[in-house]
Amino acid sequence: MSTTLRSALADEMRSAAQALGALAAGERLDYALEQAEHDHDLAPASRPVVRDLAYSATRVLGLCQALARGLNMREPAAPVAALQWLALSQLIAPQRHPATIVNQAVRAARADPQTEGAAGFINATLRAFLRSPAALLDAARRHPEARWNHPDWWLDVLRIDYPNAWQAITESADWHPPLTLRVNRRRIALADYVARLEAQGYTCRVVGPAAVIVEPAGSVLALPGWAEGLVSVQDEGAQRAALWLDLQDGQRVLDACAAPGGKSAHILEEAAVHLTALDLKPRRLERVREGLERLGLAGTLLCGDAATPRRWWDRVPFDRILVDAPCTASGIVRRAPDSRWLRRRGDLTTLAAAQTRIIDALWPLLKPGGKLLYATCSVFRAEGQDIIESFLKRHKDARELALPGGSHAAVRTDSLGPGFQLLPTSMPSEDHDGFFYCLIEKRRP
Ligand SMILES: C[S@@+](CC[C@H](N)C(=O)[O-])C[C@H]1O[C@@H](n2cnc3c(N)ncnc32)[C@H](O)[C@@H]1O
Repeated sequence: MSTTLRSALADEMRSAAQALGALAAGERLDYALEQAEHDHDLAPASRPVVRDLAYSATRVLGLCQALARGLNMREPAAPVAALQWLALSQLIAPQRHPATIVNQAVRAARADPQTEGAAGFINATLRAFLRSPAALLDAARRHPEARWNHPDWWLDVLRIDYPNAWQAITESADWHPPLTLRVNRRRIALADYVARLEAQGYTCRVVGPAAVIVEPAGSVLALPGWAEGLVSVQDEGAQRAALWLDLQDGQRVLDACAAPGGKSAHILEEAAVHLTALDLKPRRLERVREGLERLGLAGTLLCGDAATPRRWWDRVPFDRILVDAPCTASGIVRRAPDSRWLRRRGDLTTLAAAQTRIIDALWPLLKPGGKLLYATCSVFRAEGQDIIESFLKRHKDARELALPGGSHAAVRTDSLGPGFQLLPTSMPSEDHDGFFYCLIEKRRP
């Protein structure tokens, strides 16, 4: 198949609808898209189109589902529903002529045995939408899940945690995330790398000591020095972890939840430390190995549970520990728009219990005078401030340290507490996802 020609839009919509259906059934969107690409023999040039269709629909899934409920006399079978949501997402913000979208959706329905019997239904409901879109959209948007495109439980938590800012946080999910790079300052100065980018026609915005946002955001393989390990992709908010760990050459450092390894690599770029990168999942640990190899860095990679160190710890204490704990990913919705649809209310409780188990289990591994940085890519208080508040009460030998450039006064939450809550921001000088950080020192006896 030609690499420049695209498949028919109907086939692209079919693939994207399959991925959207898998997401609704609980599958991560990137895995679902891989499966859809495998199942449909699409032209390579169609793959980014399918991704764009599926990601765009995911951003407005709450609205499309509410619209569909208003249009349908009865609930359609799952593959039909997914195709209908996908087509509605295109009709809401049409980049193509609405008649083209309807015709291609009908063709997509006819091409699949699971949906062919519903081609008339797809045609009729999409045309019904086009007869009175404004009224149908107004009616659908009366439901908060459709108005804000987040599950109701997620909105409830945000409203409690941020009585004044929850709308802005929710709207940040619509932003298209920038391509932020981390320059390997062991190999090249930030200014020199920026000069190389600009010489190749990129527009650059420096947003941190090693962070630069580049446009256009094309393939990373085309970036100067990518293969030689001069640069990696990492959000500026995530780049603060290695900077805030206060690293010095020769230290023993544990990255306890390391995969896919962005922060591990950054730690090794910042100082000549002895790094142990631990992760529960062997396949994800493989990504850490690949990343370090590309960057020409080395550390000890261990597969194990951070909550049970007796199974993997060699009894030599660490100077620094990074706990980048598993979380709901509520701070990175602009990058991972599927996470909000995959998580359930109960996950917050389960994850908070896991976060507490991990930080409690790792505390004895830290030297007196050593520092532990707790981090999550979440904006939920239950995964940040609440975890640290109760940790500090339980551990009298722990004291919170101020973060450089991240004092309490700068916390942009509605309520103050321990740690530093970065909220998702998209401004010329500051453009990052949402993260919680707290730096804790172990008192000397
Ligand atoms: C937020 S991600 C870490 C991202 C990583 N620090 C980075 O910057 O690339 C959380 C990681 O924790 C791992 N994980 C979850 N539970 C764990 C546990 N009990 N012990 C160790 N790793 C765990 C997950 O497999 C996942 O890779």
